Amino acid sequence: MSSPSSTDRRPLRVALLGCGVVGSQVARMLTEHAADLAARAGAPLELVGVAVRDVSVPREGVDPALLTTDAGPLVDAADIVVEVMGGDEPARGLMLRAIAGGAAVVTANKALLASDGPALYAAADEAGVDIYFEAAVAGAIPIVRPVRESLAGDYVRKVLGIVNGTTNYVLDQMSTTGLGLDEAVAQAQQLGYAEADPTADVGGHDAAAKAAILASLAFHTRVTLDDVACEGITSITADDVAWAAKTGHVVKLLAIAERTPDGVSARVHPALVPADHPLAGVRGAFNAVFVEAEAAGDLMFYGQGAGGAPTASAVLGDVVSAARHRVLGGKGPEESTYAALPVVPASSAITRYQVRLLVVDRPGVLAQVAHLLADQGVSIEAVRQAPSDRPAGVDEPSGLAHLIITTHTATEAALAGTVEAVAALDPVREITSVLRVEGA
Ligand code: NDP
Ligand code: HSE
Repeated sequence: MSSPSSTDRRPLRVALLGCGVVGSQVARMLTEHAADLAARAGAPLELVGVAVRDVSVPREGVDPALLTTDAGPLVDAADIVVEVMGGDEPARGLMLRAIAGGAAVVTANKALLASDGPALYAAADEAGVDIYFEAAVAGAIPIVRPVRESLAGDYVRKVLGIVNGTTNYVLDQMSTTGLGLDEAVAQAQQLGYAEADPTADVGGHDAAAKAAILASLAFHTRVTLDDVACEGITSITADDVAWAAKTGHVVKLLAIAERTPDGVSARVHPALVPADHPLAGVRGAFNAVFVEAEAAGDLMFYGQGAGGAPTASAVLGDVVSAARHRVLGGKGPEESTYAALPVVPASSAITRYQVRLLVVDRPGVLAQVAHLLADQGVSIEAVRQAPSDRPAGVDEPSGLAHLIITTHTATEAALAGTVEAVAALDPVREITSVLRVEGA
């Protein structure tokens, strides 16, 4: 007897929570690609309702009869719940309700996963249902599944990535068009890349949430948002971007998760990336993630990290996986925290730095600064001097100069002590910037 075809099977009921930038594209693709999705999933996927805040807003391609503000009953009636409303509550409660009712959950909500993921994973494990979240990290790029499943036989050493499209777009615009930070953020909002509150993007918190998720998966250790040291791009100036170019670098906001001798560390901060490094070529809202693994070596994942359709692609991939399990049985991977490595402070991470100073332009100043760095055990890799156009004061007739010092690797603590000592030197007028250098 032949097995039933996908169209003979009972349709799987899909409830969509949210119909904004991402949700509207999920709805569109579910409708437009219904036949292919049914064939791939093994059963038709029927959109049974769409929860929104305001049902009076027209949603292109969505039957108004499907819209509701009452998400609870919608969740109760679903086989698969797609959460793309964002935020904490009601998203968290609705996902727990879906899981308790035996539905699979697909979510793009990295902020919630990075803080409350363990409670959701535990509930899903207990109920024996899937929880998938490919879209929560780097939009369209398949990175969650490769780290969680494809690399399950290997040992990941480091994950280094550009995982926030908004900040990459903003930094790219600042460096290529000279646009200011606020104008570039406004553009990113219009293009649908930014979070509802874009301070989550520019403050680095969105990238930090993704770093926590990636670190947890890569190191089989529970890493939450609170474990991630986070610095955004608000302190990056047009001058920083211009000087980066002059010294052969590009400024990028990086999320870094690494295995250290003492455990696992995760951090997000702006960094100078050498202009010839592949990450430097990641433009606009694109994302890229490098994974360094013991046996696989270096892997790079690149693509669109934000935006409605790209993110919906990742969401629908998860929907199809969850649907296949409904049809054929089985379940996706559970949370893996068996390694339970200590999460160490990111300040113990060792990296290179570029320090820019404004100094009085007179003989012996460079030697004085170099001597002090040597005293503090921070080794200099390169120094560059350039005249400053800032007018000289009466007590500095020879004028001022920029000193740009690139160090060899140092700990954050060693560097901070050194910078403090350098700032106190008599000929030093200002520490203009201190940026990490990564990817060299
Ligand atoms: P939007 O703000 O564009 O859309 C949110 C949707 O959820 C809206 O339709 C809104 O309804 C609905 N909603 C919000 N709160 C409620 C509520 N309390 N009850 C019912 N409906 C509600 O967000 P995005 O589509 O941009 O993002 C959704 C999720 O996807 C977030 O978790 C985000 O972090 C994540 N994500 C977003 C990406 C992007 O590029 N935008 C990329 C990757 C992940 P209404 O329309 O009536 O206001
Ligand atoms: N606001 C996020 C970004 C969306 O800019 O990358 C994707 O998670």
